Amino acid sequence: MTNLLNSFIQTNQPRIEKTLHDLIKDINAPQQLKEAMLYSLQAGGKRIRPLYTLAVLEELDVRNEDAIIVASTIEMIHTYSLIHDDLPAMDNDDLRRGKPTNHKVFGEALAILAGDALITLAFGIIARLSNISPELKIALIDQLSFSAGAEGMVGGQVLDMLGEGQTLTLAQLEQVHVNKTGALLSYSILAGAIIANASEEKKTALEKYAFHIGLAFQIQDDILDVEGTSEQLGKTAGKDLISEKNTYPSILTMEGAKTELQNQYNQAFQALETVQMHKGLLVEFADYITKRSK
Ligand code: IPE
Ligand code: IPE
Ligand code: MG
Ligand code: MG
Ligand code: MG
Repeated sequence: MTNLLNSFIQTNQPRIEKTLHDLIKDINAPQQLKEAMLYSLQAGGKRIRPLYTLAVLEELDVRNEDAIIVASTIEMIHTYSLIHDDLPAMDNDDLRRGKPTNHKVFGEALAILAGDALITLAFGIIARLSNISPELKIALIDQLSFSAGAEGMVGGQVLDMLGEGQTLTLAQLEQVHVNKTGALLSYSILAGAIIANASEEKKTALEKYAFHIGLAFQIQDDILDVEGTSEQLGKTAGKDLISEKNTYPSILTMEGAKTELQNQYNQAFQALETVQMHKGLLVEFADYITKRSK
């Protein structure tokens, strides 16, 4: 990893960890539920989404005390999606973030409910923020609902599930990936632009960048499922083949998937070309997304 991004992560990751802990610690809810929520939240994810939100603000030279909280709510939604993605009714996985999956530890019912609690809590936290204007909070909530819901991540998860055992076209697979993974990852980038109240021109460029980053991220996830080990990934490698999932390597061959990954990286890079803002972190982030090994 390059220096700029590395030091950005060193500075901000501990802040994200602390914020996540503090946001759950004080809620008035059954102890088992809080434990189940914290178990997955604190299992050690890469925190790419909240880091992206903060990186966009940094690049736009905007500081807002509530940005770290918004960033953390995106990690809550992401973590809920992982808890549910791992359930026996979905991908049926036993290992996540290097630990037994939530339902393995707490049982399916509590795992489902911990996910439900994380989604709903995230929206409430944004609604109550005091350093972001009501208009911008509504924009954040509106976009989050769109990106995480039926027209975004949840819809993508359904398409992913319906595609199991079938052969999708590349266009159909792109649709799955853009929705199941791209939508929330894109939101994390857009959220930074919303908090900063960035110009339409900047938002449009960032949205374009985010679209290609989101897709690139899931292409690399597909590649790592084949080339990585369970130890390295913290989740069971080789599952996509067993589950007859459609993936970029399965449709395009491994070589084709890597070419397409590079192609998405190039388009993300190009999206930033015309816009007037700092770009160093976002370029390094794109590089990291496409070269990451876990
Ligand atoms: C995994 O996301 C699920 C996908 C959307 C591909 P990450 O690779 O960001 O997982 P964590 O948060 O680091 O565990
Ligand atoms: C998950 O895609 C996307 C989500 C919305 C969670 P995957 O099913 O490929 O994610 P992993 O490989 O289990 O992390
Ligand atoms: Mg899945
Ligand atoms: Mg999965
Ligand atoms: Mg995967």
